[in-house]
Amino acid sequence: MEMRGVGEKERVCVTGAGGFVASWLVKFLLQKGYIVHGTVRDPCDKKNAHLKEFENAPENLQLFKADLLDYEGLCAAIAGCSGVFHVACPVPAGTVANPEVDMIEPAVVGTRNVLNTCLKAKAKRVVVVSSIAAVMNNPKWPKDHTMDEECWSDRDFCKTTKKYYSLAKTIAESEAFEYAKRGELDIVTVCPSNVIGTMLQPTINSSSLLLLSMLKDGHESLENKNRHLVDVRDVAEAIMLVFEKPEAKGRYICTSYAMKVQVFANKLKGMYPNYNHTKSFTEVDDSGKLSSEKLQDLGWKYRPLEESIVDSVTNYQERGFLLKE
Ligand SMILES: NC(=O)c1ccc[n+]([C@@H]2O[C@H](COP(=O)([O-])OP(=O)(O)OC[C@H]3O[C@@H](n4cnc5c(N)ncnc54)[C@H](OP(=O)(O)O)[C@@H]3O)[C@@H](O)[C@H]2O)c1
Repeated sequence: MEMRGVGEKERVCVTGAGGFVASWLVKFLLQKGYIVHGTVRDPCDKKNAHLKEFENAPENLQLFKADLLDYEGLCAAIAGCSGVFHVACPVPAGTVANPEVDMIEPAVVGTRNVLNTCLKAKAKRVVVVSSIAAVMNNPKWPKDHTMDEECWSDRDFCKTTKKYYSLAKTIAESEAFEYAKRGELDIVTVCPSNVIGTMLQPTINSSSLLLLSMLKDGHESLENKNRHLVDVRDVAEAIMLVFEKPEAKGRYICTSYAMKVQVFANKLKGMYPNYNHTKSFTEVDDSGKLSSEKLQDLGWKYRPLEESIVDSVTNYQERGFLLKE
């Protein structure tokens, strides 16, 4: 199978390089010999210092200061890049105070800015990281049907239920495909589920916080929803795969495991009995099933869930976020 960029020095840009998913992506791209332009909001902030420690970083990684609303900053970072990975987006841990400013603008206007910059730079392929949040919030999808790439979150439903992250990701991803439909850019999107695994960055991100909280906070009660999980390294590999495989097209759901929160909590308890686990669960109607068959057909593989859990917990312990049992 023909792969792009392998063994040659291709120049690519990763937005939001210091984040959880993007840090692994930057690490893997550097390992593979890519020259990487990473955008960060503050190149001097010590929360981005880990990027400079990666193998090949001294010679092949350049950090650029750019907010998603800073078109000129993005232009400087993306100039000369044949590939662009748009990863940056706010990922709120809870409710957002001002949805328009805190969520919609950076996600939607930010994506537009990145894509306009890609047009200017004549990028060959752009990978936009979306989310299953742009897939699953669709009450019209038949309950007994597995959700695949055809399923889009319903904007009105997201608005009325105040799911602003889902709304922003849905608008941003569908707008990205408008560029592709107009024949302006070759765009592929990846929609990961809940991402867990080892953090390379020093600060804790929202999805890692969710897992940490299940080990630490001893919740009185949690809703027994379906939980869809994927390892951060498998997400970074999926993003590179859809970039490198010329035949990749459209959206790709990226998820490995699905289970009820209670089943997941029991698994955690079995592996780490001495942590402060959730005490009870309330039943909710949540039967949504997801498929990552399209991505697997492209050649994507994922690691065992136990490996992701052990690596996450070890990482939280080493960082001092969690005491050793
Ligand atoms: N983690 C998950 O479970 C999950 C699941 C599905 C999809 N995703 C998607 O995956 C991507 C990465 O998420 P993550 O989990 O790695 O989150 P993360 O660690 O919070 O990273 C998000 C990155 O976006 C940057 N960012 C946010 N607002 C920005 C702005 N206005 N201008 C420039 N940069 C901005 C952040 O920069 P600062 O550090 O400066 O804030 C950070 O580097 C996002 O697109 C997210 O929607 C994540």
